[in-house]
Amino acid sequence: METHVLVEGRRREAWKFVRESRRARRDVSAMPVLGVDLTEEILILKRERNAVILAHNYQAREIQELADFVGDSLGLSYRAAETEADVIVFCGVHFMAETAKIVNPTKRVILPDLEAGCSLSDSCPADKLAAHLHAHAEKNYYVIAYINCSAGVKALSDVICTSGNAVKMVERAPKDRNILFVPDENLGAWVMEQTGRKMDLWKGHCYVHVEFTRDSIERIRRDHPDAPVVAHPECTFAVRLLADEVCSTEKMIGYCRQSPAQAFVIVTESGMLHRLRREIPGKTFIAGPTEHCACADCRYMKKNTLEKLHDCLLHLAPEIVLPEAVRARAEVPIRRMLEWSA
Ligand code: 13P
Ligand code: SF4
Repeated sequence: METHVLVEGRRREAWKFVRESRRARRDVSAMPVLGVDLTEEILILKRERNAVILAHNYQAREIQELADFVGDSLGLSYRAAETEADVIVFCGVHFMAETAKIVNPTKRVILPDLEAGCSLSDSCPADKLAAHLHAHAEKNYYVIAYINCSAGVKALSDVICTSGNAVKMVERAPKDRNILFVPDENLGAWVMEQTGRKMDLWKGHCYVHVEFTRDSIERIRRDHPDAPVVAHPECTFAVRLLADEVCSTEKMIGYCRQSPAQAFVIVTESGMLHRLRREIPGKTFIAGPTEHCACADCRYMKKNTLEKLHDCLLHLAPEIVLPEAVRARAEVPIRRMLEWSA
């Protein structure tokens, strides 16, 4: 017991020394030194900064394991809105960190890699949406924006939705208005199927989810005939048609937990498999394949690493900064979503 305490004490001294000398040198390299454990160093920095680490379900396993909260876009939005921490470290992509900043203007919101973007968000630039709304002013659109979009697009929208609450948001939209749903045409089409409400759809998509094809899913179904296929609504119509369940990443947990089946084919980004395997260890989760592989990694989500997480906590950067006018306007449809979704 005494020996253990002594060894622990020495390790802590070693960390302190390494951290202080790195700070003195402004050395951002985060390679473990002298047996220093990176995860533990992140947790120490997190306490020092009074930070909370929020991670999306698509993050790498090691990031999910040390996060304070792992969830889907909806759950993360609620956590971001209610946190009392001074610093929010967002392990996800840019629009998610931006959403956290929009609802927390006085807090510091950082993300490990500013390059963690999103193809879906990129497919709908704010200036193009503004021009479209201007060109079709006679439609007097009610704009419903999937949360996977920039603050500029949110600022042009009436309400935000996530894949977890899109049906509810569309059902609550005013009945006498034309709806423009941006930016995901696949999620939009799925919501139309669910609600029967006609909407005009922006022609955007997620580059990861459209890689799953009818053939690739039919093949895996033949190999695992007893495993229900669970797909994200960003998948194409042909894939959604083959699925036993179409739902957000968070709802996948509930579906797989309560289903009597023992194995499932998961048709979404690969990080989701870590979350499912951690939360439901007794069951088997098979990665839904694309035409090329069984590795649907989002290159943006996977930009975040433990090293970058460490460095961003150390330097409190890169930080999300937004023009106040855009932030304040974008907050309105997010708050509306949080209220309607509660
Ligand atoms: P969820 O809202 O289901 O977490 O999905 C977010 C996302 O980026 C899907 O590609
Ligand atoms: Fe964007 Fe697709 Fe990556 Fe989700 S999986 S963050 S929608 S590119």
